[in-house]
Amino acid sequence: MHIDLSGQTILVTGASRGIGREIARQLGASGATVAIHYSSSSDEAVALCKEIGGKSEAFRADLSDASETDRLFRDVAGVYGRIDCVVNNAGIAVHSPLEKSLGDWVDDWDRTMDVNTRSSGILTRAAIGHFVENGGGRLIYMASRASFRGDSEDYLAYAASKGAMVSLARSVARAYGKQNIKAFTIAPGFVRTSMAQDAIDAYGEDFVLGGIALDRLTEPSDVAPTVVLLASGLSDHATGCTIDINAASYVH
Ligand SMILES: NC(=O)c1ccc[n+]([C@@H]2O[C@H](COP(=O)([O-])OP(=O)(O)OC[C@H]3O[C@@H](n4cnc5c(N)ncnc54)[C@H](OP(=O)(O)O)[C@@H]3O)[C@@H](O)[C@H]2O)c1
Repeated sequence: MHIDLSGQTILVTGASRGIGREIARQLGASGATVAIHYSSSSDEAVALCKEIGGKSEAFRADLSDASETDRLFRDVAGVYGRIDCVVNNAGIAVHSPLEKSLGDWVDDWDRTMDVNTRSSGILTRAAIGHFVENGGGRLIYMASRASFRGDSEDYLAYAASKGAMVSLARSVARAYGKQNIKAFTIAPGFVRTSMAQDAIDAYGEDFVLGGIALDRLTEPSDVAPTVVLLASGLSDHATGCTIDINAASYVH
């Protein structure tokens, strides 16, 4: 099977680092024009643009801010005219034990929801309007194993924010399928990025490996090919699905 994404413009949020960077690389290598979103890692985003080449450009937006998030979509559409797919990948995992004061705990909760979930909702809203006008499109949501299995007591907001992304994606798939809009969820387990590094540092790689069936930790390059496939249109009848990429950690 040969996947050719040439002619497609794809916005990847949180493409400056981690899983998003590898998704952007692999989409670019398959011929897509990639709009590389970042917030604080501008050097990394600019370097990635150079690496991918073509018409790829970097776009800055703090996704904790609703109007910046909405502006991001308009900025990208303004440059390229048409967007074919949005990968809602940017996210944060804030360590937030219940021992924190109510004010601090609520701040963590709100920030997590704003960056992970509300921003995906705002981009979904903008994308649906654009896709309806342009004959369709695809949305891909980066949820988590935590959406289904839950997370530890220190990451309640993170798990809740990722659970919401699954129901958002399924709602889009149900509501807009007849308008040629497809929505998919990917739910990774631990993936070796700076987000997972805190847990690896705290508990050790052996502990993390003990929770999966395979003999090495999942890398961003183990997640990105699934995004390329879903963006290609070859799997459109999987709309509404969730693809687990967690090295059998539910069943291990
Ligand atoms: N790593 C894992 O084990 C794992 C497991 C399951 C799901 N996931 C999910 O996969 C996605 C990517 O995670 P990752 O591990 O690649 O994380 P990462 O390495 O920490 O990268 C996070 C990305 O999100 C962006 N970001 C963070 N805060 C932002 C904000 N306020 N506004 C805009 N962008 C922001 C960052 O941009 P800047 O650096 O430019 O600010 C960065 O590009 C997340 O949604 C995460 O929840 C990760």
